[in-house]
Amino acid sequence: MRIHILKNYEELSKKAAEIIKSQIVLKDDSVIGFATGSTPLGTYKELINMHKEGLDFSNITTFNLDEYYGLPASDVNSYHYFMYSNLFDHINVSKKKVHIPDGEVKDVDKFCKDYEGNIAKAGGIDLQILGIGKNGHIGFNEPDDNMDVPTHLTDLTEGTINANSRFFDSIDQVPKQAITMGLGTIMKSKRILLLASGEDKAEIIEKMLKAQVVTTNIPASFLFLHNNVDILVDEKAASLMER
Ligand code: GLP
Repeated sequence: MRIHILKNYEELSKKAAEIIKSQIVLKDDSVIGFATGSTPLGTYKELINMHKEGLDFSNITTFNLDEYYGLPASDVNSYHYFMYSNLFDHINVSKKKVHIPDGEVKDVDKFCKDYEGNIAKAGGIDLQILGIGKNGHIGFNEPDDNMDVPTHLTDLTEGTINANSRFFDSIDQVPKQAITMGLGTIMKSKRILLLASGEDKAEIIEKMLKAQVVTTNIPASFLFLHNNVDILVDEKAASLMER
């Protein structure tokens, strides 16, 4: 696990975008796993600028980590809407190669199996981008006694519903469930890039890195078992870390 401490959010976003760019330059048909949340927004802005300067996304395939269950893709709070408005509508990605879990699907089990199958058919994820929840969740893999391995439907914790209510008009509108890649799906990625920014993330980053244990209480701690992980933190998120 490589930990990089960047001066601020802008530097973190630039570094993350550089890593994604190198991946695409090395392999133009890379399979990229995208994440939502406020953290990667700066990275996506950088990628849009890189596209304006010529970076070609036309051959990549994308798989998103998660989607709220019960929200149509057209809802402004859906992760579909987030990805198109913040990235995909501004780069030349082929819409046919974009995959985001379907928040309205009826046969969830079949959908999740197919999602896994489609990732495998694409050759696996070359680079997975992750944010981290304040409780250590990655995607929507919430702390629990057991962790689901493949893509699955999950209940959101109260803490996550509260944290994400800032995007909704009221907390009652926040979906209670989501479809998310499982920890196994994430761990199969060839390379992982986790981004953490701001004081809000300082506690969980310190807790996870100090403990050096793998625990389902901190789903992100499973990344200790992966051999190709970069963690990018800005100075605020690193403020409680021992240097
Ligand atoms: C959400 C997403 C995660 C994201 C996390 C942190 O619940 N499902 O993929 O990493 O919250 O979000 P933020 O970057 O806004 O802090």
